[in-house]
Amino acid sequence: MRDSFENQIPHIHFKDVSFSYPKKKENLIFKCNFKIKKPGFWMVVGKNGSGKSTLLKLINGIIKPKHGSVFCNANVGMVFQNPDHQILMPNCRSELLININQNLSDYEIAKKIEYVLDQVGLNGFAKRPVHTLSGGQKQRLTIACALISNRNFILLDEPTALLDQTSQLKVLKTIKNLTCNDKKPLSALWITHRYEELTYADAVAELKNGFLSSWQEPSKFKYN
Ligand SMILES: Nc1ncnc2c1ncn2[C@@H]1O[C@H](COP(=O)(O)OP(=O)(O)OP(=O)(O)O)[C@@H](O)[C@H]1O
Ligand SMILES: [Mg+2]
Repeated sequence: MRDSFENQIPHIHFKDVSFSYPKKKENLIFKCNFKIKKPGFWMVVGKNGSGKSTLLKLINGIIKPKHGSVFCNANVGMVFQNPDHQILMPNCRSELLININQNLSDYEIAKKIEYVLDQVGLNGFAKRPVHTLSGGQKQRLTIACALISNRNFILLDEPTALLDQTSQLKVLKTIKNLTCNDKKPLSALWITHRYEELTYADAVAELKNGFLSSWQEPSKFKYN
């Protein structure tokens, strides 16, 4: 199922989506409509509690809309704010290995590990214990895990919130490069509170009152 999306252009479409958590009267997401139908670097901003993480959960199917429909034709991977909440294994290689979902020879596995580590700027890190990585390196390892499991759409929920500026820039540039790749550009939806990051986006939207604004160029985007 997962791999059947691998060679398609990932596509997400929200049609009149409304959602509220149990026992909540008001809709957190209300008649929300948007499309992402080409690869690129998409960013969403919004105040605390506006429903950004909920929006990602609707995209990856963890929760279902009360009304409307979510169409997601993509192999979706997640990167969370704190990589320690998602990395399970003691070193980079073993973490990548548990994310390979194909039957590959040892040679192919070694090549693939080398390739994805290179893609995230962690060349030569295969044997490195995870506890010796910086926060930014851990975030780039989680991105490598998404790549090695053939994800073509990565949802990143404030991935730089815990990082200093140097690490923040490396993670941003890693995603920027992957979304600009000539042969197989990635789709990435990045949630952020850090406005200096918006300039890296191809398009920016704001989640407010349950509704996602239209996509805008970062230079024209105004945060209300
Ligand atoms: N499982 C849940 N059950 C009930 N309410 C929830 C649940 N998860 C989130 N909420 C509520 O829904 C609202 C939106 O939460 P969400 O985490 O989507 O916001 P957010 O925009 O990601 O916020 P932040 O910027 O702080 O990460 C909040 O009021 C939150 O308390
Ligand atoms: Mg959140």
